[in-house]
Amino acid sequence: MSSLQHHSNWVNGAHQPPAEGRIHVINPATESPLFTIDSTPSSTVSTIIQSSLSNFSSGIWSSSSASDRYLVLSKAATLLRSRLPHYIRLETSQTGRPIREMTAQLSRIPEWLEYFASLARTHEGRVTPFKGPVVNTLTRSPLGVVVQITPWNHPLLIAIKKIAAALAAGNSVIVKPSESAPLSVLEMGKLFQEAGLPDGTLQIVCGYGRETGKFLCESPLVAKIDLTGGLQTYAAIAPNASKNLIPITAELGGKAPVCIFPSVPVEKAVKAALFASFIASGQTCVTGSRLLVHSDIYDEFVSLMVERTKALRVGDPMDERTQIGAVISRASVERCASFVMKAVIENGNVLCGGGPTRVDGKGFFFQPTLIETSAESNLSCNEVFGPVIAIIRCKSEDEIIQIANSTSFALGASVWSNDFSQAHRVAEKIDAGIVWINGHHLNDPSSPWGGFKESGMGKENGIEAFESYTKVKSTIINYGQEPTWFDDEVENARYG
Ligand SMILES: *[C@@H]1O[C@H](CO)[C@@H](O)[C@H](O)[C@H]1NC(C)=O
Ligand SMILES: *[C@@H]1O[C@H](CO)[C@@H](O)[C@H](O)[C@H]1NC(C)=O
Ligand SMILES: *[C@@H]1O[C@H](CO)[C@@H](O)[C@H](O)[C@H]1NC(C)=O
Ligand SMILES: *[C@@H]1O[C@H](CO)[C@@H](O)[C@H](O)[C@H]1NC(C)=O
Repeated sequence: MSSLQHHSNWVNGAHQPPAEGRIHVINPATESPLFTIDSTPSSTVSTIIQSSLSNFSSGIWSSSSASDRYLVLSKAATLLRSRLPHYIRLETSQTGRPIREMTAQLSRIPEWLEYFASLARTHEGRVTPFKGPVVNTLTRSPLGVVVQITPWNHPLLIAIKKIAAALAAGNSVIVKPSESAPLSVLEMGKLFQEAGLPDGTLQIVCGYGRETGKFLCESPLVAKIDLTGGLQTYAAIAPNASKNLIPITAELGGKAPVCIFPSVPVEKAVKAALFASFIASGQTCVTGSRLLVHSDIYDEFVSLMVERTKALRVGDPMDERTQIGAVISRASVERCASFVMKAVIENGNVLCGGGPTRVDGKGFFFQPTLIETSAESNLSCNEVFGPVIAIIRCKSEDEIIQIANSTSFALGASVWSNDFSQAHRVAEKIDAGIVWINGHHLNDPSSPWGGFKESGMGKENGIEAFESYTKVKSTIINYGQEPTWFDDEVENARYG
């Protein structure tokens, strides 16, 4: 038997006795086990939802003042900032992503807590231009117990994005982090408690998506579901949620085009593409997974891109010099390999990479891979979620726009052009929830984030996310003196 440390669910302000079922979490770069977590059964899920609900109804958080919510979220930001070195190492070991990426990403996460703290304190209701001697106020209140299903690629970033918005609006939150990288999120229970959040307001429940996640999303007692994951997960939870009239915010897949125009110097275009494509080994929903390159610079671009891709340092994620870490699992390595195989069958030209690799004989690594292919190929239309990138030669601006729009996804896209009019023209025509001009991956707590088409619905970040965690009440106040219908005196006056 293993002597691995076990981390049990965080419920009602404490770690609970371990569940019977346990899940082993491994470091994908070394394949060594890290710790175990609970696999939470259906009966426990119901109990947790019930206790969240009674806590929500108590009003201890849902009726707390805006200034109290501001203080708790701000304190959580300060605590998180003071513990970043711990979380950077933890996140690197759970995900296999390079420590230099996790350092950059984690250092920004407290901003999400600060932003939503400020929004809690400053967000105001409205008064409508209602006709007559009437004052119509619109006020917002929290929804109730909300369920958040978060992924393994940016474990803490995405969980905090969702938790901060929901708590700022006064909800009670149940988070189910990914079973592949749960610990940084699980540790947030204690951190929020230290920040002054009432116990029972943030519950963190571990398990598999197909079990624990599904049980949470099937409950008619939850008020909203916020999911970051795949279309399949959405399809699995949507029928019950829809029957129960539970709204879903869904951040699903993507196939982001990186549109490269000749006005950009090739050196700059290549750096842009490397950044867009290979951050997190291509395991983000906005990975620049299709490089749409204008034929005027195509040959020059491709030769430099291949040279630079081959030079990327694949290695131990804990090493500060490593640029490309592991992918999350053996299954992910196999998925990447199968996309390469399909691309070859469809006459794709593998320019570099193309296969699994190991570091010190261990780990789930895949070589950064570039494949020249057609816009219609399997690789160009389906999400890999790994470092296998399609390069497509495009004849014109129109063709770039048409190909950019040609997948079933519509999440992120970037346009690289030094021609001001062209950049705007193209950005305007691309159908995507997030379009960057001369940038990629740029993200801010104030900037709404979410896609169209099969990439999902609703937004994270910004006022949109905050408001999506509230319900609006219209209160209509009549201050008129006019008699109303069925008023006897009026009837008498008129006909008497
Ligand atoms: C809220 O949760 C805390 C911690 O479990 C508990 O002590 C308290 O009684 C709960 N309040 C209600 C009204 O359920
Ligand atoms: C979810 O929906 C399925 C199919 O309609 C149904 O059999 C099941 O009982 C539902 N789950 C819950 C918890 O209501
Ligand atoms: C292309 O990819 C999709 C999604 O992975 C898959 O369902 C389909 O079978 C693939 N087509 C071929 C020809 O491999
Ligand atoms: C791209 O999609 C947008 C939104 O659907 C549409 O307005 C535009 O015409 C499309 N452009 C092309 C070339 O398909």
